[in-house]
Amino acid sequence: MHVVHHITELRQALEAGPRPAFVPTMGNLHEGHLALVREAKASDRPVVASIFVNRLQFAPHEDFDRYPRTLPRDSELLAGAGCDIVFAPDEAEMYPTPQAYKVAPPAALGDILEGHFRPGFFTGVCTVVMKLFQIVQPGLALFGKKDYQQLRVIEGMVRDFALPITIAGGETVRAEDGLALSSRNGYLGAGERAESTALITQLRAVADAVRADPGRTEAAEQAAMHALRARGWAPDYIAVRGRTDLLPTASAGAPRVVLAAARLGNTRLIDNLEF
Ligand code: PAF
Repeated sequence: MHVVHHITELRQALEAGPRPAFVPTMGNLHEGHLALVREAKASDRPVVASIFVNRLQFAPHEDFDRYPRTLPRDSELLAGAGCDIVFAPDEAEMYPTPQAYKVAPPAALGDILEGHFRPGFFTGVCTVVMKLFQIVQPGLALFGKKDYQQLRVIEGMVRDFALPITIAGGETVRAEDGLALSSRNGYLGAGERAESTALITQLRAVADAVRADPGRTEAAEQAAMHALRARGWAPDYIAVRGRTDLLPTASAGAPRVVLAAARLGNTRLIDNLEF
C-alpha cells in the first residue's frame, strides 16, 4: 500500500488502471471505515482511501483542532483491510488558496436536521467531496449509513452533476452494546460511554412505537427526546423521516428512518435506524 500526500503523485499512481473504488474519511479510523474498504476491495477496482480533516465542514466552535490525527495507525489498519493507496493531503495541498468556489446542496435537504443545527456543514462536505472526486476520479465511492443525511446529500450531488460515480452506502457498524462506531466516541469518558447506548435504545423505542401506530409519530419523537433529557442528554432532534427525501412522511408502510443527534457532556453523537 502506498501513502501519497500530493495530487500529482496520486494521479500518476492511478493513470494506468481502471477508475478506483474510493472511501473518503477524516481518519481516526474504526471498523465502520474498514468495512467500507473491504466492500470497496470486493469491487475488484483499485482501492483509494483519503484521510483529510476538512476545515470547511467545521463551525468555529466545533472540534476541528482537537479532531484526532492518527495517520500511522490509520495506515496500518487500511493496509490490513486491503486498501491500495492512501491519499493524505495536508491543508496546503487541498486548499492552496482559500476555497472560493463551493458546492451547496438544496436547502430542502441540506438545511434540515444536521444542516439546521450545523449551518454550512453540508456545503463544506459537498465541496470537499466534489474536490476529492475530481482528484481521485473514482468509479465507485462508499459512505457509511451512520451519516445518513450525508449519504443522501452526496447521492443528490452526484445525480445533479451527472458524475459517473456509483455511490454505495455501508451499513452502520455497532459495538456489542449497540453504540454506533464513530471517530468521536473516543471523546466519551467512561461514564458517558456506558450511558451512550441510551441513544440507540431511544431510536429502537421510536421505531417500535411508530411501527405499532404511525399516528403517534410525533408523540414517539417527543417521548424519546424527553427520556434523553431526563438522563442528562441535550438532544438536537429525534425525527422520523422518509428514507429518500428525509422529509416527514405520513404514509404507513413507506420505508422510514429515525434519525437523532444529541449531546452527552461535550460530545455530540448522531445515529439512525431504518425501519
Ligand atoms: O464522513 C466523513 O468522514 C466526512 O464528512 C467526509 C465524507 C470524509 C468529508 O470530509
